[in-house]
Order: sequence, then structure tokens, then C-alpha cells
Amino acid sequence: MPIGTDSETSGGPSSRVKLVGRALNAAVSHAPWLWPLLRAPMTRYFDDLAITWDDRTGAPGVDHLAPLAVAVTKIDRRPERALDIGTGTGVAALFLAREFPYASVRGVDVSEEMIRRAKAKVGLDPDGRVAFQVADSAALPYGEGHFDLVTLLNTPPFFAEIARVLRHGGHVIVAASSGDQTPFYTPDAVLRRGFGRHGMTTVKTGVIGRGSYFVARKGD
Ligand SMILES: C[S@@+](CC[C@H](N)C(=O)[O-])C[C@H]1O[C@@H](n2cnc3c(N)ncnc32)[C@H](O)[C@@H]1O
Repeated sequence: MPIGTDSETSGGPSSRVKLVGRALNAAVSHAPWLWPLLRAPMTRYFDDLAITWDDRTGAPGVDHLAPLAVAVTKIDRRPERALDIGTGTGVAALFLAREFPYASVRGVDVSEEMIRRAKAKVGLDPDGRVAFQVADSAALPYGEGHFDLVTLLNTPPFFAEIARVLRHGGHVIVAASSGDQTPFYTPDAVLRRGFGRHGMTTVKTGVIGRGSYFVARKGD
């Protein structure tokens, strides 16, 4: 079921959810300085959605994760350190941990309620390879060049911060579970331009089922 769908009333995201998503993605992509004004209402919005997120969106399911699953096959090196931004209930981070069994994986989100649910899923993680924390992707709590791979599934991109925390040659994947019907969708042209301004090169874009993905690398 597409992100934010009202399962009882329609087969796609409600127009209100779509409107909120598009407005947020446009603001973050084109006017990131607006984020401090949007942060509190957006965080409350996602805190409220957290409790029903997995049921409403089918987040742990194949359709939700498909574009990310295809996109990781387009990168040329297995990551040692991966970060999932706007991780929500953590499904993409947990997918990365399964896909790359030797990588350490971090997931961040501004919503405490989302992170609470993500953490509950790794309560018994024996080696501490996966960890979640509340953090704002406009100011990530990691040093320069820390990650080999950064992923965003259905989440707005702060281009400068993503480029900063990626090592040279590292990859970013931006995936949308319902392609351009995803409320929190950023068009490829905007991603290409935004990452390009921060020294990143587009590697691959594609569509899988109803989902879409964009892959870029830091450097040439
Ligand atoms: C549409 S949800 C996607 C959640 C998850 N990636 C998924 O696909 O199930 C977008 C998520 O991004 C988070 N988010 C939005 N802006 C953020 C920011 N500046 N920093 C960190 N997380 C953010 C929201 O709290 C929300 O959990």
C-alpha cells in the first residue's frame, strides 16, 4: 500500500498527505533555510503517524522496499558503514543490515516516536551492528566522510549534509516506494542538480514496479 494511504477509503495516498509531503520536499530541496520553521510541526506530524506507520504503509513489505533493494545492486562496493536518513520505523536500515552483514548501520529520524519503534525492532541485536537515534538530517551528528552509503527512502534530502558525511567514492540512494506518486518524492532532475552542486555524480536512476530510485556517488 502506498505511503500515507488511508487504507479504508482509497487506493493511494490522501491528497492532504501528498500536499504535506510535496511541500516539505520542495522546501528542503529548494529552500533548506525554511526547515527551522517547519521542524516542530513536521516532527509532531510524524510522531502522530508513528504508531500506525507499519500497518498503514506496509513498510516492512516487499513493495515498500523494492526500489531500495534494486538500487543497492547498482553500487560497486559493499559498504562498511551505512546511514539511513528519515528511517521512520527502521525498515530500510534493517534491510541494509540484512543485505550487508558486515556493515555497521545507523538510522536517524527527527521523530522520537518513530525511533522508539525502530529501536524496539533491534532490542535483541546481539552485536550492536544496527543502532537508531533521534537526529535532524539538516545537522547530522557524524563527522565528515564517515559513511560509505547513505540511503533515504521516502524522505526529503538535505544535499549538503549528505555530501558532507559521505566519504569520497561513497554512494547515496534516494528511493521512493510509489515513484512520483509518493508524497515525499523528489524528482530526479532536482536530485541530480542538488547533489551535483555538492560534487556528486549521478550513477543510475530507475523504476521498479511502482517505485523509483536514484543513485549518486561522491566524486567523479
Ligand atoms: C515518509 S516518512 C518515511 C519513513 C521511512 N523511511 C519509510 O519509508 O518507511 C519520512 C520520515 O522522515 C523523517 N524526517 C523528515 N525530515 C527529517 C529530518 N530533517 N531529519 C530526520 N528525519 C526527518 C520523518 O520524521 C519521517 O519519519
